[in-house]
Amino acid sequence: MIAAPGLSGSAGRRGGGANPGEGADTGGSARFRWDARAESDAGGQNLPAERAAAPPPRPWMSPPRAHHFRGSLGRFATGVAIVTFDGVTKRHGITVNSFTSVSMEPPLVLVSIARKTRAHDELAGRPFSVNILGAEQRQLALHFAGRPGSEPEWVEGPIAPRLARVLAWFECKPWAAYDGGDHTLYLGEVVDFDYRSGDALAFANSVFTTIPESQLGMEDLL
Ligand SMILES: Cc1cc2nc3c(=O)[nH]c(=O)nc-3n(C[C@H](O)[C@H](O)[C@H](O)COP(=O)(O)O)c2cc1C
Repeated sequence: MIAAPGLSGSAGRRGGGANPGEGADTGGSARFRWDARAESDAGGQNLPAERAAAPPPRPWMSPPRAHHFRGSLGRFATGVAIVTFDGVTKRHGITVNSFTSVSMEPPLVLVSIARKTRAHDELAGRPFSVNILGAEQRQLALHFAGRPGSEPEWVEGPIAPRLARVLAWFECKPWAAYDGGDHTLYLGEVVDFDYRSGDALAFANSVFTTIPESQLGMEDLL
């Protein structure tokens, strides 16, 4: 969710103003609903005049405390995934570690996308895939985190494009989106999925690491 310092972001990004409804199609899902609070005023759009004229709010935390907050969050080890989808202007892929399973019935998953990213606005109301990376796929993680390498191999899924040879994948229809501060929480309804055997790519303390494949899965206990 909150990426490692130095690994994310790049110059020239848009300044955060979410305008999710614009140009978005519903991806065929009548269920998609946009939480009105996600209509960010961070970019100064659609603000009442008196608020638009107000000075920018103070940061929530001092820079050292924000750094400490990131460090504390970074102690939570996660897997690494790439969200892929066809936007209005282009095909997108964005590396995330905010992937979370949400619900079995219906099958829902969540990703948290920063408002400042190029993917943010274009993801609203669109089908997407979540690609869970294997241990040998850290170059792919970097490719979609602002350090592009060679073009990856794509699979044209019926719901959304996805990446070849990932550890697991979920093709999702848009379900809902909720305000998450400087991020938006996008929920997808899983339409199709699969996985293969192999070690998982993980991210902890701002570094990539490997989680060996477990010989004894505990899916039935969860
Ligand atoms: C391990 C890792 C995890 C990340 N997790 C997230 C995340 O959960 N949400 C997010 O918005 N950005 C995350 N990022 C940062 C984005 O991948 C990065 O800002 C990306 O370049 C945005 O691409 P875009 O602006 O082209 O959409 C992560 C980066 C890394 C390396």
